[in-house]
Amino acid sequence: MEISQSWSKIIHDGSSPPFDSSLPLEISQGETRHLLAVEMNEIGLKDEAETKIQVRGLNKVSDKGDCILNSVSVDIPGGVIMGIIGPSGSGKSTLLRALNRLWEPPKNTVFLDGNDICGIDVLFLRRKVGMLFQLPVLFEGTVADNIRYGPKLKGKKLSDDEVYKLLALADLDSSFFNKSGGELSVGQAQRVALARTLANEPEVLLLDEPTSALDPISTQNIEDVLVKLKKDQKMTIVMVSHGIKQIQRIADVVCLLVDGEIVEIMKPDQLSEANHPMALRFLQLSS
Ligand SMILES: Nc1ncnc2c1ncn2[C@@H]1O[C@H](COP(=O)(O)OP(=O)(O)OP(=O)(O)O)[C@@H](O)[C@H]1O
Ligand SMILES: [Mg+2]
Repeated sequence: MEISQSWSKIIHDGSSPPFDSSLPLEISQGETRHLLAVEMNEIGLKDEAETKIQVRGLNKVSDKGDCILNSVSVDIPGGVIMGIIGPSGSGKSTLLRALNRLWEPPKNTVFLDGNDICGIDVLFLRRKVGMLFQLPVLFEGTVADNIRYGPKLKGKKLSDDEVYKLLALADLDSSFFNKSGGELSVGQAQRVALARTLANEPEVLLLDEPTSALDPISTQNIEDVLVKLKKDQKMTIVMVSHGIKQIQRIADVVCLLVDGEIVEIMKPDQLSEANHPMALRFLQLSS
């Protein structure tokens, strides 16, 4: 296996690697280590692109003693869409939830811009690292009320123009401004939830199967918005999806999680070259 020692390394090696991922890593024979590299220039980024999120040796054990996450280490570069795939129960949502402390990770395991997220005020963190779930839950009131919610908590009232801009960002026209949640389709409500998250000006978006309840057109709308956010705002996006085709359409890099372990990290179009049988199985089932 080719091992890159550049910054661009995306690693999972079964131990707690050094925080500075530019440090060389050595693999001794006989060790059950697993290290994969994706060159940033291969996914259209310069090698010196910043790591936005670092996960280091993240473990989670259930109350019954079952391993849910097993020493997960990964670097998520800024301005990319990283897809996370894996069988049901493999720990995808748990990993995602650790990134904005919906599940509190142990100290010194998750870093945002180099800072341990456990040391960051949790509300501040969740504004910076927004999240969207499978099914949107809108608050009572109008679409505009929903979009204004986050900034209002900070004491800021968004102007109508700002709300319209956020609607447009989520590919919703101005007619939605005064609608109530009950008048919306699930796909439209999901875009409102996205606009509401964007109102907090996040730098990272975490998406847990955001389109699994949507029809193909709504799915495409959301995908288009995500790609645009990445391109125009350099947003870092981490998306759990069961749709390999979706991952192949929009992700720059894909991470395969099996039984709480990252077993492959690669470009989506390299899935067919993956060593892990589960990656191949995903590919077969989706074709
Ligand atoms: N709060 C919890 N308490 C105990 N076990 C949990 C808890 N949350 C998740 N688990 C267990 O952790 C494992 C991983 O769950 P997780 O929801 O992260 O999987 P997933 O990969 O997102 O699955 P899916 O594709 O079905 O959404 C599962 O075995 C689940 O039963
Ligand atoms: Mg899940």
